[in-house]
Amino acid sequence: MARICGMFRQPSTTAFCVVAATLILIIIVYTPDFSTFVRQVTHSKKITVDPSAKGQKETVVHVVVVGNDRLWEGMLTLATSIVINTRSDVMFHFVTLAPQASQLKAAIEASALRSVRYEVIPFSEDRVKGQYIVKSPRKDLDHPLNFGRFFMPELLPDVCRVIYIDADCLVLGDISELHNLTLKNNDVMAALNEKKPAHLGVNFSNPYVKARGIPRDTDIINNGIFVADLQRWRQQNITARLLYWMRLNVVSSVLKWGDCGSGSQGLMLLTVFDKYTPLPKEWNALQGHHGKELGNKKLLHWNGSDKPWHTKHTTYSITLWRKYNSFLHNSAHLIIPGARVL
Ligand SMILES: *[C@@H]1O[C@H](CO)[C@@H](O)[C@H](O)[C@H]1NC(C)=O
Ligand SMILES: *[C@@H]1O[C@H](CO)[C@@H](O)[C@H](O)[C@H]1NC(C)=O
Ligand SMILES: *[C@@H]1O[C@H](CO)[C@@H](O)[C@H](O)[C@H]1NC(C)=O
Ligand SMILES: *[C@@H]1O[C@H](CO)[C@@H](O)[C@H](O)[C@H]1NC(C)=O
Repeated sequence: MARICGMFRQPSTTAFCVVAATLILIIIVYTPDFSTFVRQVTHSKKITVDPSAKGQKETVVHVVVVGNDRLWEGMLTLATSIVINTRSDVMFHFVTLAPQASQLKAAIEASALRSVRYEVIPFSEDRVKGQYIVKSPRKDLDHPLNFGRFFMPELLPDVCRVIYIDADCLVLGDISELHNLTLKNNDVMAALNEKKPAHLGVNFSNPYVKARGIPRDTDIINNGIFVADLQRWRQQNITARLLYWMRLNVVSSVLKWGDCGSGSQGLMLLTVFDKYTPLPKEWNALQGHHGKELGNKKLLHWNGSDKPWHTKHTTYSITLWRKYNSFLHNSAHLIIPGARVL
């Protein structure tokens, strides 16, 4: 500013300069990039751990994101949105196929996310190979990693509370709000009850399903995002129960054909329909609910096959996704002093 103003000599132009400089400052401050930068600086003050604060428990929000190389762009963009919008320290656990693990790590190190806490967990397809069947027009659901979420207690042996999120989501709220959620009774998770009746996803003609005693019209569970208590999950053998239904579905169709249940979702419903707390709706805004008025929406979820990284559409929310995607590829935005890479 001083240099621009120095070009003018007369007092009247000095007044003009003051006005112009103020305007420029206003424009800079209200540019999204700049506000993000300011927020990052504000965040980093809270994130830095004071080594003298002995005995204080460090609250870390653990987030699990799973996918193969076709989903990485979505996974890392999602992680970027989480970091930018939280005031808490987050540890990411990226789960991918074992042979691709080092490649994912290289992709993270080449992005703005290299400054956040993360680990890459290799997943062996042998855990589920030949033990599941997916009958859906959505070919992307027919992948071993789609069942990776079932194994979180084993993949994260030292973690108690975890937030699982699908790659096709974008977080706009503070993720620590989910971490702080109270799970009622002895529930193992909080997840969205999607307003579709269970019989669309689960085969109620099947004797095993009948014996399970699920109300026909209970809501299906959308397991694209959920908050899980891994301690209770371990105690209640949830993984073993999920695998029981997964294997049973191969020999005796317990799920219906289609989107509602055929992937991991119907198995989740069969296992935890009576063990979950409904997630506040703003934390799983499905397609059709993220138009121009985002209101209090805290998580956008592109359910269905039209994903933001390959769509030809340009809606309001997809423009937003692309903005976070460009933050990801711009190293200036996610530097968090005090955070460390594991
Ligand atoms: C969640 O709880 C932690 C620890 O008490 C707190 O620092 C954080 O602000 C809470 N998050 C929200 C969104 O309230
Ligand atoms: C539902 O289960 C019954 C009994 O196992 C089976 O005969 C039927 O084919 C199944 N329906 C679907 C849509 O898979
Ligand atoms: C979980 O499985 C273990 C070993 O199979 C068994 O001993 C235990 O009783 C089971 N717990 C529940 C709650 O089903
Ligand atoms: C996404 O979720 C909305 C809301 O439940 C639903 O109406 C829509 O059919 C879903 N889209 C797909 C492709 O599953």
